Amino acid sequence: MNESASKCILLILCLFEMLNAISGQTPATMVNSGTRPVVLVTNKETPEKGINKLKLKCDVIFPKNHPATREEILELAGQVDGIMWVGHMALNGEVLDRGGERLKAISTMSAGMDYVDIDEFRKRKFPLGYTPIVLNDAVADSAIGLMIAAGRRYHEGRLAIDQSQWKGGPQWLLGQDIKGSTVGIIGMGGIGQTIAKRLKGFDIGQLLYSGRRSKPEAEALGAKMVPQDELLQESDYVFIAVPLTNETYHLINETTLAKMKSTAVLVNVARGDIVDQKALVAALKSGTIFAAGLDVMTPEPLPADDELLSLPNAVVIPHLGSATVQTRNNMAEIAALNVLAGIAKTPMFSPYPY
Ligand SMILES: *[C@@H]1O[C@H](CO)[C@@H](O)[C@H](O)[C@H]1NC(C)=O
Ligand SMILES: *[C@@H]1O[C@H](CO)[C@@H](O)[C@H](O)[C@H]1NC(C)=O
Repeated sequence: MNESASKCILLILCLFEMLNAISGQTPATMVNSGTRPVVLVTNKETPEKGINKLKLKCDVIFPKNHPATREEILELAGQVDGIMWVGHMALNGEVLDRGGERLKAISTMSAGMDYVDIDEFRKRKFPLGYTPIVLNDAVADSAIGLMIAAGRRYHEGRLAIDQSQWKGGPQWLLGQDIKGSTVGIIGMGGIGQTIAKRLKGFDIGQLLYSGRRSKPEAEALGAKMVPQDELLQESDYVFIAVPLTNETYHLINETTLAKMKSTAVLVNVARGDIVDQKALVAALKSGTIFAAGLDVMTPEPLPADDELLSLPNAVVIPHLGSATVQTRNNMAEIAALNVLAGIAKTPMFSPYPY
């Protein structure tokens, strides 16, 4: 899940493109010889790079509506050979049932799979792809941005300007230092490791992480594995980079927030439900912690009148972690390759390991 893995993926993507260019052929195993397979792409705004890849070998259809309704997607599921599932709508047994005999493969265009009923796919041995790793860099960049924005009170400062409250002076809007700080990363997977790599340039004092097992890649980055409570107690900055599962649901709650330093900054680039948001709002209001930088929240989209948005010490951005041109292109291409491989009954480029 490190840099070389990421480079390797991009290299393999290039090789796939070259092979496609040379052969221009549909694999012999492709179903319905004579007629091209049909793929449903559930979101019209999916990057063309991915759509074009599909069109080399398949016909592509989209739902009429944007955003598509669930009923529309379910109805189309029964008329296609593969689905590129773009967005976080629940992907479950209902979709597979409605897909029926004809539907052979689905790939999401995301790394987090919390909206997918994995058990259903495992039970049916149904080919399922996803797009991890290629978004690690973009998400880690965003995490660092939130760390600085929250720690240095960017949102509060902007509000002061908007409200003609620019005071200035040696004691105004002082934030937290990064140099010399202790940084804790909860979940040292691909994104956690990429954040750790970014932090190398910041002269931090200590890097801690917690997780189910120790990671040699993390130790190589100078990170020390500690129990989660110790990480929360010691860290000046806490990054959340774990997948959302039943075990990580509300992992940050009233109890765990109370363990953190009053000067601590919490950054969440994983999933909103890992944090008990009510408890976080209370903690930000009472000064239990200093600030939070959130790319993810509950619910999404967040209503404009949500209390979270009224807090000067919460930097909130609308789930933009992987939102760069190149990253989304890469994700769309990988998802497309997954679907094509699944339809051809060959191993997917990036299968979900269920
Ligand atoms: C997670 O929790 C939900 C409801 O709380 C339950 O239905 C589901 O089976 C659980 N999943 C796993 C993998 O334990
Ligand atoms: C808070 O989260 C911790 C684990 O992170 C868990 O052990 C504890 O039961 C949770 N407490 C509440 C009140 O949810």
